Amino acid sequence: MMTHTIKNIAVFTSGGDSPGMNAAIRAVVRSCIYHGIGVFGIKRGFEGMIDGDIIEMRSDSVSNIIQRGGTMLKSARSERFRTEEGRAQAYRNLQDKGIDGLIAIGGDGTFSGALQFSKEFDIPVVGIPGTIDNDLFGTDYTLGYDTAINTALDAIDRIRDTADSHDRLFFIEVMGRDAGFIALETGIAGGAEAILVPETKTNIDQLMATLKRGWKRNKSSMIVVVAEGDEEGGAFEVARKVKNRFDHFDIRVSVLGHIQRGGKPSCMDRVLGSRLGVASVEALLAGKRNVMTGIINNQVHFTAFDKAVKHHMDIDPAMLKLVEILSN
Ligand code: F6P
Repeated sequence: MMTHTIKNIAVFTSGGDSPGMNAAIRAVVRSCIYHGIGVFGIKRGFEGMIDGDIIEMRSDSVSNIIQRGGTMLKSARSERFRTEEGRAQAYRNLQDKGIDGLIAIGGDGTFSGALQFSKEFDIPVVGIPGTIDNDLFGTDYTLGYDTAINTALDAIDRIRDTADSHDRLFFIEVMGRDAGFIALETGIAGGAEAILVPETKTNIDQLMATLKRGWKRNKSSMIVVVAEGDEEGGAFEVARKVKNRFDHFDIRVSVLGHIQRGGKPSCMDRVLGSRLGVASVEALLAGKRNVMTGIINNQVHFTAFDKAVKHHMDIDPAMLKLVEILSN
């Protein structure tokens, strides 16, 4: 029997949405009900917290959402929450509803805001890593990453068909402002000739050498996957730099964009959201605060917010080497 003092938990989603957030919301709500705790949903993240856009959740509030992409609670990036006035108003709204524990689903910006809020107003917060970027320390996978890479991979496969039909070189831009995980894994799985990520210095000469080697080998089409945050620029910029020096192929650019963020969550993301939701409620009830719930080696782990956001996951150099070997 779990002993706890928390009476009412509120859950919210913040920052970029990601597939699987609905599964996590559902798990939080049903888990609170299971433990006899009141549960609320805050709309539009910190924005809704400031505006008092807070709704009581029942079991049927989360019916028929596990299979949907996006977030039923909606999401936002909040400038007002950066102000003391905004945070004080948010706290008053929580007090009015008797909310004494929070579950924040989002990425590093969400957890940094939550940490500051928790310290200022002494309210416990537990986080669920929800971002397609997979760039949080303390979990093997973030919620939405698996769905996003499979969506991007499906698009890359389709582009490969047309690239091959026309003997073209394609630069495909995938999401990832600060992280190259989507580019790395979709590039390997999509058979890309080269992958450009923000974590490593991009060398255009080296890229040229790879492309020339492919051309000499009589490759009829080639694909380069570029993470949007690569320091040489996005796919258009990299394509422009290459075009000046390489006229053996007709070059095209495709930016996949927000297609990668939507769509129904994969089985893995639904299970991940369900596990993280239940574990986060149990963590709050067990007295944990300011930690992110994650899964490492299939076990639930808790990582302090400041560690989760500051220690970025590293790209494994062996994975990049793989691209070099396989594109030969
Ligand atoms: O953090 C997730 C993410 O999808 C990034 O990969 C991307 O750079 C960013 O969000 C885009 O944000 P927005 O939808 O606000 O333009």
